[in-house]
Amino acid sequence: MLILKPDDIPSSEITPRSAYLNRRQFIAAATAAAAGTAFAKASTETTKLSTIKGPLSTTGEDLTPFDYITHYNNFYEFGVEKGDPAKNAWRLQTRPWTITVEGLVSKPKTFDIDDLLKLRPLEERVYRMRCVEAWSMVIPWVGYSLSEFIKQCEPLGKAKYVQFLSLADRKQMPGLSQSSINWPYSEGLRMDEAMHPLTLLCVGLYGQVLPNQDGAPVRIVVPWKYGFKSAKSIVKIRFVDKQPHTAWNDEAPNEYGFYSNVNPNVDHPRWSQKYERRIGEPIFKQRRATLMFNGYADQVASLYNGMDLRKYY
Ligand code: MTE
Repeated sequence: MLILKPDDIPSSEITPRSAYLNRRQFIAAATAAAAGTAFAKASTETTKLSTIKGPLSTTGEDLTPFDYITHYNNFYEFGVEKGDPAKNAWRLQTRPWTITVEGLVSKPKTFDIDDLLKLRPLEERVYRMRCVEAWSMVIPWVGYSLSEFIKQCEPLGKAKYVQFLSLADRKQMPGLSQSSINWPYSEGLRMDEAMHPLTLLCVGLYGQVLPNQDGAPVRIVVPWKYGFKSAKSIVKIRFVDKQPHTAWNDEAPNEYGFYSNVNPNVDHPRWSQKYERRIGEPIFKQRRATLMFNGYADQVASLYNGMDLRKYY
């Protein structure tokens, strides 16, 4: 199993890393200043998205700085270390890009990413994100509710689950040969979870198109579940009647269940889930208690009424 357990992450990593990021920010600012405003303008104009404020945003939390969101990633297609995706994901070609919809739908369809971008107004949605490795971030995503896209897919009544499949292309993704994951990366949601308004079809963050390492050009974001449910760079959506297989459950079924709801009362077999470390915060403020359903219990707990969450972890 490749996921590090929190105890394996040396605390010494935190300080040098933030020092490194501060240096990077300084260098980036100095370079931009040296290049003049023309450089700064050109680099933002190409990536900016026009957004409206999403009413479902989480409020009252400091946003994780952009540099951490884009340099501390899990995207195993580009390597297993947290810094690998930022180094390697430039290889990913995000145009042309299509999502193929198949399975239990009135008729299979293929959507072009540029049409998806125009389907609904793009919202900025600030969400708390909690990784199963016990770190968290607060990210201003850009997108709209996945339910809006699902309606366009016209699923049949028999469809009970949705499966998401990521791109798996050895020419662009050097990490495919470095780990034992059952590629392509596969994730899934029950239909009512997928239709929940909080579940986001995500195309950007911080008002820009998604950086490649965060799952460009389109990913899913499910804020009340551990981060691995949020499949990146998706190319296929399949509507099915049975629970689909998922990448991490295939890898270690006793550690990563299908539901993967954030739950401080159900420990991972190798570590506690009671606390988390907020990436990018000063070290004395990083540790905080993990919240049931990652703080989204009021909105989503009813989806699991009557279910034993120890069994359906
Ligand atoms: N999607 C794909 N295709 N490949 C991956 O390795 N990693 C998952 C998830 N989606 C992953 C993926 C995990 S473990 C996490 S925590 C989140 O992406 C991380 O998203 P971020 O790097 O944008 O924070």
